[in-house]
Amino acid sequence: MSSERSAIILAAGLGTRMKSAKPKMLHELLGRPLLGHVLKATRAIRPERRIVVVGAAADQVTAYLDEYAPDAETVFQAEQLGTGHAVRTALEAAPDLAGTVVVAAGDIPLLRPDTLGELVEIHEKAGNAVTVLTAVVDDPSGLGRIVRDEDGSVLRNVEHRDADETELAIREINSSVYAFDAAVLREQLAKLTTANDQGEEYLTDVLELAREAGHQIAAFVVDDPTEVLGCNDRAQLAGLRRILQGRINTELMKSGVTLEDPETTWIDATVKVAPDALIRPGCQLKGATAVDTGAEIGPDTTLNDTIVEAGASVVRSHADQATVGEGATVGPFSYLRPAAKLGEGAKVGAYVEVKKSEIGPGAKVPHLSYIGDATIGAKANVSAGVIVANYDGVNKHRTTVGEASFIGSDSVLIAPVDIADGSYVAAGSAISAGVAPGELAIARGRQENKEGWVAAKRPGTVTDEAAKRALKDDEVARE
Ligand code: UD1
Ligand code: CA
Repeated sequence: MSSERSAIILAAGLGTRMKSAKPKMLHELLGRPLLGHVLKATRAIRPERRIVVVGAAADQVTAYLDEYAPDAETVFQAEQLGTGHAVRTALEAAPDLAGTVVVAAGDIPLLRPDTLGELVEIHEKAGNAVTVLTAVVDDPSGLGRIVRDEDGSVLRNVEHRDADETELAIREINSSVYAFDAAVLREQLAKLTTANDQGEEYLTDVLELAREAGHQIAAFVVDDPTEVLGCNDRAQLAGLRRILQGRINTELMKSGVTLEDPETTWIDATVKVAPDALIRPGCQLKGATAVDTGAEIGPDTTLNDTIVEAGASVVRSHADQATVGEGATVGPFSYLRPAAKLGEGAKVGAYVEVKKSEIGPGAKVPHLSYIGDATIGAKANVSAGVIVANYDGVNKHRTTVGEASFIGSDSVLIAPVDIADGSYVAAGSAISAGVAPGELAIARGRQENKEGWVAAKRPGTVTDEAAKRALKDDEVARE
């Protein structure tokens, strides 16, 4: 027998109950589409080939595979004539397939890689022709039932709509995951008929056909029935998301991550969090986000594709494709946009937006600023309310602020502009020309005070009365 292994994933159905222009397989579940989770699980069997049967919205599914699983082959099933027909179509396109063939539906994203590995191991060790993954569930409605003999051996699968009263009472269901011997599968698929309630070629019939042909068939009952939950509508999708959230969060906590409130913490399957990181309530960590040890995130923070280095903290903020350096601090209420990069110990305080900019090591932007297309030098101080005017209405321009320079509050830096190392910009300046090292730039109107203006122009107002009292007090004080 060949020791070769392959996987066939069934993904030709549209999933009409999702009521979506997007095929069901591409709906997202904590960082990956449904299909992506199943594909990832198939890695556990180290398959030589992975074949995905596509049909409905094939272009969208194929585009996804091209990007995220370029090794996967696609086989086009023009009409969805049943799961058996789908596998037959795949095998016709892969006539050399030998050894063990795992077949899995593309819409059971909670299947654990280890379970698939175990299924194949048991299948090969026992020398089975077919091993079906089954589960014992409380509510088997709609699913195929596993019919066993009195001695417990598997006889066949019967679909819900073809089942009689006794069969309907069976709670062991077909998960739509199987390990097959390739030769037996090919041979038995050729015998499928459409003599069932749906008039489809049922893959499930291969069980009975193989057994009748004298081959050994068996079932492997999964411990955790949630692993084989399918997804037909968005309510089920939300249910699967909740289960996966629980799994991911439990694993993280066991690995040494503190989650103050796992119930309100949503961490994608694709995210990495190091031991001794602390995640406060209400956070979402998405995509390629990575949080290093000692970092503190939240509460109420979203990180998308964001790197947070050791000991940094991000409080009540939103970050997308940003990097927060070691020991840097962000928030509360700030927004890091793509290519925002904070150096070691940098500070981005409250109500600050940073885009495509580097905030150097130890530099501070503590309050109410917009920093766009800029490089802020190490240890620079950007005071409250500084705006980088990076856009002239047509083009974006870059700004640099040198090492340890000081930008006074409420200044506008009109790009492109270079403010050298060790220089000062006075508060309230509109800077449109460079500043050299050691200089102070003041770019604002000079203050002029008009004595007696209130008495002359606003007589009798509360302001005038206050002024008169204050002037009198001054007189008294001078006596
Ligand atoms: C199938 C099983 C059922 C099992 C259930 C578990 C059959 C006949 N029934 O039923 O025993 O309990 O899964 O969820 O296999 N697909 C194709 N091409 C087709 C038809 C389906 O690629 O022509 C794909 C679908 O996209 C889906 C998978 O196969 O990923 C399962 O198909 P579906 O129609 O959902 O089968 P069920 O009725 O759920
Ligand atoms: Ca299904």
